[in-house]
Amino acid sequence: MAPVTARLTINGKPQTLQIDVRTTVLDALREHVGLTGTKKGCDHGQCGACTVMIGGRRVVSCLTLALSAQGQEILTIEGLSHGDQLHPMQQAFIDHDAFQCGYCTPGQIISAVGCVQEGHAGTDEDIREYMSGNLCRCAAYPNIVAAIKQAAPEMAQDMPAKQDLPARQDSPARQDSPAQKG
Ligand code: FES
Ligand code: FES
Repeated sequence: MAPVTARLTINGKPQTLQIDVRTTVLDALREHVGLTGTKKGCDHGQCGACTVMIGGRRVVSCLTLALSAQGQEILTIEGLSHGDQLHPMQQAFIDHDAFQCGYCTPGQIISAVGCVQEGHAGTDEDIREYMSGNLCRCAAYPNIVAAIKQAAPEMAQDMPAKQDLPARQDSPARQDSPAQKG
C-alpha cells in the first residue's frame, strides 16, 4: 500500500510523516518520530501503557490511527516537562516511588494528568476508578494514588475548567482492574 502524508503536531512541533494508512499514533511516535517514551504493552487497548493526550483527551494510542489525529495536538511524556523542570505529576511519581520497572509509567503519568484535569481526583476511590484503564504489573497502585493526590492541588492553579475538558472515551474505566484493590 502506498504511503500517505500525515501532518501531526506532537508536543507543539509540526511533523510531516510518510506512513501507511493503518499506522497507529503509537507506531508513528515510536517508529517514525523516535519518541519512544510512550510504551507498547498489549497493543490491544487493554493496558494503558501507550496513553497519550490528543486534543486534551487521554487516549490509548495503540488503537488510534495517526491520520485521525491530524489537526489536533498530541502530547506525549516527552512534552510534559518544561526543559529541566518536571511537571508536578512527574515529580510526584518520583516523590512517592510510584513505579518499579517503569514500563507503565509514561502512560500512568499522562493518564494521571488527564484524571486530574477531568476533575476525577477528588477521592482515592475516584482516582482508582478513573485510573483503572492503566495497569501496573508491579502493583504500584497505592503509590500512584498518593502521587496523584500530591500533584492535583499543584496542578489546580493553571487548569482549565472541568466542563471544558472531554471525558476519556476510548478506554473506559475497567471494573475488574487490580487498580480497584490497590
Ligand atoms: S499498548 Fe495500548 S493499551 Fe496496551
Ligand atoms: S512500574 Fe512496572 S508495570 Fe508499572
